Amino acid sequence: MDTFEALKNEAMEALKTCSNVSQLQEIKTQYLGPKSQLIACLKNLKTLSPEEKVSMGRKVNELKGLLEQEIAKKAQQLHTQERLNKLGASIDPSLLNPYAPITPLHPLTQTRNRILSIFKGLGYAVAEGPEIETEWFCFDALNVPPNHPARAEQDTFFLHGKTSSTTKQKGEESFILRTQTSTVQIRSLDQHKPPFRVVSPGRVFRRDTVDATHNFNFHQIEGLCIDKDISVADLKGTLDFFVEKFFGKRFETRLRPSFFPFTEPSFEMDIFVHDLGKFHDTWIEVWGCGMVNPNVLRNAGLDPNEWHAFAFGFGVERLAMLLYGIEDIRRFYQNDVRFLNQF
Ligand code: DAH
Repeated sequence: MDTFEALKNEAMEALKTCSNVSQLQEIKTQYLGPKSQLIACLKNLKTLSPEEKVSMGRKVNELKGLLEQEIAKKAQQLHTQERLNKLGASIDPSLLNPYAPITPLHPLTQTRNRILSIFKGLGYAVAEGPEIETEWFCFDALNVPPNHPARAEQDTFFLHGKTSSTTKQKGEESFILRTQTSTVQIRSLDQHKPPFRVVSPGRVFRRDTVDATHNFNFHQIEGLCIDKDISVADLKGTLDFFVEKFFGKRFETRLRPSFFPFTEPSFEMDIFVHDLGKFHDTWIEVWGCGMVNPNVLRNAGLDPNEWHAFAFGFGVERLAMLLYGIEDIRRFYQNDVRFLNQF
């Protein structure tokens, strides 16, 4: 075995057993440093004959290149090992890979976006309001009297204790977590000069017990259209158009008389479905709607003889459950990726 082969074997053996960065530095100095055998050989080249120079030069450079490469490889391995040692027992191999493909938007976000884009296409603007509200915007201004069950303590989260039993002036009432996005009706009427159309998406809160169809917080989209000659026919036409766009098929619809303090007349809209999730050949209730009560317009300083409006309120969870055939509302909030990845 020539000297080069012996030197190479010795260096490779040293690299194999090297276990830390300072040992590696020593190896590098020993085999490639200014006082190493290889560098001495390089310096010696000039004393050799031209032929010897070529063959010796090639051997020295080959070994030098190989050792540089192997030392760099070992340095990388030691660096990785050192990082893993530092992390030690805190590594959780079951964690999700952060470089995995990005999961799609949450089904509730997708449903909200789908609803909003249909209304944007009909000329509606998007208006948002605060989640912490006053009783005025959530109840009084919407013609919900103080003794209405929706205001009772079991339905509403009050931020500073119990509600009072008398109607108060705007700005004097308690703060609550809004129970409905209808609050944005009044805020929009206060802020904008009619005619206009808005849809208001948002989170609402109720002191409900959680089960397959209820949660203490959920999402709604409120709609309001105000103009001079607005009638129930406009309301029905708008919602029929929405149903067809949202579900992607034409369903028979009907307005069933109902009661909401802020609309008169009030309706619940039903759609007749042949096959939708668990529903077959049946009418299902989808949302509330109606012509805005004259008292609500008056509370916003508008003359009900001059202006007419219709309003509607969707539950985003309800629509998402119908669209995707989901039977338990709690699935939306569990953040189980196996569920979320289906959308
Ligand atoms: N705010 C109602 C609720 O939370 C839904 C609703 C019904 C909104 C009728 C409306 C409406 O604007 O006209 O149950």
